[in-house]
Parts: sequence; structure tokens; C-alpha cells
Amino acid sequence: MPKIFVTRRIPDSGIRLLEQKGFDLEVSDFDGVLPRDALLRKVRGMDAILSLLTDRMDEELMDAAGPQLKVIGQFAVGFDNIDLKAAAERRIVVTNTPGVLTEATAELTVALIYALARRIVEADRHMRGGTFKGWAPLMLLGNDLTGKVLGLIGLGRIGQAVGERLPQMKIRYHDLNRKEQLEQTRGFEYRELNDLLREADFVSIHVPLTDQTRRLITMERLGMMKRSAYLINTSRGPVVDELSLVQALKTGRIKGAALDVYEEEPLMAPGLAELSNAVLVPHIGSATEEARSAMSELAAKNIIAVLSGQEPLTPVDMM
Ligand code: DGY
Repeated sequence: MPKIFVTRRIPDSGIRLLEQKGFDLEVSDFDGVLPRDALLRKVRGMDAILSLLTDRMDEELMDAAGPQLKVIGQFAVGFDNIDLKAAAERRIVVTNTPGVLTEATAELTVALIYALARRIVEADRHMRGGTFKGWAPLMLLGNDLTGKVLGLIGLGRIGQAVGERLPQMKIRYHDLNRKEQLEQTRGFEYRELNDLLREADFVSIHVPLTDQTRRLITMERLGMMKRSAYLINTSRGPVVDELSLVQALKTGRIKGAALDVYEEEPLMAPGLAELSNAVLVPHIGSATEEARSAMSELAAKNIIAVLSGQEPLTPVDMM
């Protein structure tokens, strides 16, 4: 029977599917990201690895697994932790879990936009800190969203779902590809990246991490944004130069930011945690029971398909 290693405990639904097939299955019982040496040991002799975005799946790991390794089934839509070239060279199929976490991630993004606009986290601290002395006309004023410009960097599934959930806003987007149908049906308007940054009241990032998007948001680009604008990142941390963002928030160069992802997770750039105009959550974009179960099932189905000699449901494009 083919051997599968699951690098960390995930929702049961996918595990059950793998078990039902009678595979020789091992699920890591380590409560955390497996240390590198343990991971290298555990993958040895495996036909499939169910990986997480916190596992570095590189040449060394693929060679440690051995030439029988057929598939890496990633439990995430993002796959920047996987060396696709090394996988292609070894004829290893890589799959991910697109589609099933779109709503969860879009809804978190919308929640962060509201949290920034209405200063929800600051207000919560104010209450708990015992500093609320009664209703006041100038207390914790935020901003309306109606009529404001939302600039989406990346109009894939998640970017689109965010735009669709905020019909009261004017949606502008930047993407490698024009989405003419969405322009016609939804009224979304295309902008060059720098124009989008200049125009938007809220800028929300929805691109994968690639060589092209790494540090896309630099100090120079933050400087193009309105002083009254907010930045939201629920994609990948390294898309934003985090130290520059801290500077921009500290100096009031932009009004606020909400982050779900960080350059060096689980660390944060120095100074970020002290800023009251930053809303910070710990990479929970897809963290709903529904999304995580669906991710578990899709990752398992992809592995089952490859090990059964069929086409996976959602292969990663290796080009
Ligand atoms: C992803 O899927 O890439 C998210 O970052 C985690 O679910």
C-alpha cells in the first residue's frame, strides 16, 4: 500500500478519506511545525506528503523522501513554500486547495476593513481599559465605507469575492490580466498599480507570493498612498516591506493597516505590535471550520487521485 505522511494534524474529514482507501498513513503527532530534521526523517520512503504552508518543501526534502515520491498535496491555496522546479524535475505532482477557502478569506478581509474603518480593536481596548467615560461626540471617530474607493491588488478568486462583498464601495483593481467581464458586470475598474495606490482609500492585497510580488509594497509605494488610506494584507507577508510599513504607520504616512500575514511568521517587525493604528491577526484567513474541513478533503482527494493513477482535482500549474 502507498505510504502517506501528513505533516501535522488537520481536520478529520480528509484523514478519514485517506484511511478509507486503506493507505499506509502516518499523521505527525507533534504539536507544532515539525523541526526540519524530524521532517526529513519522516518523509523517507513516502509516496505522498500532505504538506502545510509552514513546511519547506525543497530539493533536499524531495531527495530525502526518495524517488518513489509521487505527490505533494498542499493544505493551502498558496504554495510558495514548495520548490515547483525541483518537483517538476522529479516528476512529483503538486496540488493545492483553491476555491474552498475563498469565502473564509474574503470574509476575514472584509472584517478587517470594517475593523479599521470603525476602529473596533481600539474601541475594545478602550472599554476593557476602563477609560470609557460615557458617550462623546468626538470619541473614536472612524470612516464610512460608502462611496470610498477600494483598491484590490490581485483580482483572483479572493480579490473578486472581497469586491463583491462591498457593493457600497467603488472597486478599482490591478492584476496581471484585465477582467473585462467583471468590469462590465460588476463595474470594477482597472488601474495601473501606482495609480491604484494613489486613488484608493483602502488597498487590499490578494496576490500569491512570487519573485514578482515579493516586496511589491515598498516605502516608495506606501508614499504614493493617501495619508487617509488604509492597507490590508491577507495574502502573504513578504509582499509588503514590513519595516517600511511600521515607519509609514508611525509617521502617519498612511492612516492604518490590518495584517493577517507577516514577513517572518510567527515574528512581527519591531514596533508593529505597539501601533494603535494597526489591526493584527495571526494568519487566520482560512480559519473557519467549514473552510479547513473542505481544505482537508480536497488535499486528500488530490492525493488519492494521483496515487490511483488519475488526474488530481486541483493541480498546481508547474510552468
Ligand atoms: C492559504 O491557503 O494559502 C492560506 O494562507 C492558509 O489557508
